[in-house]
Amino acid sequence: MLYSEKESIYQMVNAQLTALLDTESNVLANLSNASALLKMNFPHTVFSGFYLYDGNELILGPFQGGVSCVRIPLGKGVCGESAAIRQTVIVGDVKTYPNYISCDSSAHSEIVLPMVKDGQLLGVLDLDSSCVDDYDHIDQQYLEEFVTILLEKTEWTFSMYEEKA
Ligand code: SME
Repeated sequence: MLYSEKESIYQMVNAQLTALLDTESNVLANLSNASALLKMNFPHTVFSGFYLYDGNELILGPFQGGVSCVRIPLGKGVCGESAAIRQTVIVGDVKTYPNYISCDSSAHSEIVLPMVKDGQLLGVLDLDSSCVDDYDHIDQQYLEEFVTILLEKTEWTFSMYEEKA
């Protein structure tokens, strides 16, 4: 995909995310729609979703794609690595990356972005592509913006499961 084509898709995706989240702050709804938005707009995506940090490890959250591994310790795999160093990690060819956890043999490249709010690690956004070298600095730039929008607009509470007073 050409840089300019990719950029214009991301500009539309980030504008759509802003519009979608303008009237909704529920965390499950927002993470679910956010994962769908990315999967729908980037046809090579085989997984698009979230791993959420429970204070100890990453646990599979809302996603689009095939059945995936559920728990990832910090530091393990590309997701655990990104969460531990709190930086975006891009892997051009997952088959040659030693710290990679394979969930789907059709995945060939991966980008993982940490989600940190007020100094607290909340989880990661994980995208896998069926193409080698599918992610670059353009994806990083726009997906970091995507995560910022998501964190700003979402109320990070699962209070619907807490006992009502
Ligand atoms: N490949 C990831 C595991 C999650 S799946 O890609 C959905 C990793 O190495 O952390």
